Amino acid sequence: MEFKRLANGLMMPVLGMGTWEMGGRQTPDSANDSKEINALRTGIDLGMTLIDTAEMYASGHAEELVGEAIKPYKRDDVFITTKVWSTNLRFNDLVSAMKGSLKRLGLSYVDLYLVHWPNPQIPLKETMSALEYCVEEGYTRSIGVSNFSAVLLLEAQSYLRRHLLVADQVHYNLIEQSPREDLLPYCEKNGVIVIAYRPLEKGQLSGKRNSVLDALATKYNKTRAQVCLNWLISQKNVVAIPKASRLEHLKENLWAVGWNLNDEDAARLGESFR
Ligand SMILES: NC(=O)c1ccc[n+]([C@@H]2O[C@H](COP(=O)([O-])OP(=O)(O)OC[C@H]3O[C@@H](n4cnc5c(N)ncnc54)[C@H](OP(=O)(O)O)[C@@H]3O)[C@@H](O)[C@H]2O)c1
Repeated sequence: MEFKRLANGLMMPVLGMGTWEMGGRQTPDSANDSKEINALRTGIDLGMTLIDTAEMYASGHAEELVGEAIKPYKRDDVFITTKVWSTNLRFNDLVSAMKGSLKRLGLSYVDLYLVHWPNPQIPLKETMSALEYCVEEGYTRSIGVSNFSAVLLLEAQSYLRRHLLVADQVHYNLIEQSPREDLLPYCEKNGVIVIAYRPLEKGQLSGKRNSVLDALATKYNKTRAQVCLNWLISQKNVVAIPKASRLEHLKENLWAVGWNLNDEDAARLGESFR
């Protein structure tokens, strides 16, 4: 696995595993628990030690699955990100949500704690203060946001006194390139990692007909999914978190790492989807 350095010095794997729809959607569904735990463990064994989850996913059951999956591993061997839901952004609510996530994950700390979505009804200053408190209490090693525009990210940063926002997790892939307009340049300039969610546009990209994508897959001897993921992670401050329950997908995605599209090919591919 390759890593990128967060602004606080922590090293984050460039490719991780998403968990949305593992253990249910909005509500828990345990029908596939052992299959999902097996997928997560296979991914970790392959080197995809970054796992992305959230208190909202399956109402906490996704976090429970992650907790079960990582039990056999040393704490330092995995990088766990979770997120606080947008209705829990008042100071006390956020701290309770953080403790709830830790309990379900079976951990004393996570590596990265994110605000899942902004909530204009709750003062951002109060939320940022609660995030800093979580770092100081040792509940999380780093803090960040998700679905924040560059303008909102800047506002959030202005309220922080002692810690840095190290990441913004946003919808980003070849089909959804809007983060390139303002957010990516801002993050690159300010040392914020962009975590690309839905990097395969829910699997659509692997079946997408695009002559440049197909030509590059042939040129680099990679699959479409591998090229699409590499297009993201070969950007300076971007990491990606595809979700894969099928082992063949996990194995395929892993080989998005360890090589790079050259700059000219990456630019041509990006243009071909615009
Ligand atoms: N912060 C946010 O608001 C937010 C929003 C959405 C997502 N996320 C995070 O980002 C993660 C990824 O996004 P996502 O799950 O929405 O979409 P995604 O990763 O783009 O796509 C997942 C889908 O693609 C399939 N897939 C995986 N690898 C593949 C491959 N090599 N070839 C073909 N199909 C493949 C998976 O199938 P199988 O599962 O059957 O293998 C699954 O159906 C989520 O799981 C979640 O952790 C965050």
